[in-house]
Amino acid sequence: MSDGHNFRLGIIGSGKGSNAAAIADACASGLIPAQVALVISDIPDAGVLQRARERGLPAVFIPPGKFRSKLEGPAEAAWVRALQEARVDLVALAGFMRILKDGFLRAFPQRVVNIHPALLPAFPGLEAWKQALEYGVKFTGVTVHFVDQGVDTGPILAQRTVPVLPGDTAATLHARIQEAEREVYPATLAALARGAVRVEGRQTLWD
Ligand code: GRF
Repeated sequence: MSDGHNFRLGIIGSGKGSNAAAIADACASGLIPAQVALVISDIPDAGVLQRARERGLPAVFIPPGKFRSKLEGPAEAAWVRALQEARVDLVALAGFMRILKDGFLRAFPQRVVNIHPALLPAFPGLEAWKQALEYGVKFTGVTVHFVDQGVDTGPILAQRTVPVLPGDTAATLHARIQEAEREVYPATLAALARGAVRVEGRQTLWD
């Protein structure tokens, strides 16, 4: 699928792929001036691969190696090689459940971004919507950030608040958060693809 845009996105994910689908659709509609060059998953039958293939996008499972929660060693090298061969300009994590290490991040300096389902630095790590619900906050939200060597610690690109409503369950809150994700992530990737974001230390400035 060619849409005439030269900026090339790689998407990596482990889950059902709602963010990946929103990003792919935003590329197809021209909202993001980019094309999805490759989708990779560490789970052979992940929804994210399915949703990419339905859209005619190249989507592959690449074995994640021997570790359970990180990508390292020969597996990391294989993932980097695939993304480099696809000539990606930016790697977007979309529900990717592994920690990326130095080797990967050095291959794509300041070119890896993630969406996190909370207002960082609150509730980093897993199931952030559950953490927010259990803590009792009245607002949580979403954060798009650059990926660095920490867990959910890189410079923040964009955030949006989402209310926690009376009677919310983990599922209803997560669904509301995911609605926000599907808007904020494509809008941020569009700004990055346009070259409209400058980074100064931890500050990111949108033109
Ligand atoms: C999203 O809530 C994202 O914030 C988190 O994992 C979930 C992935 O969902 N990192 P999907 O695979 O994009 O549907």
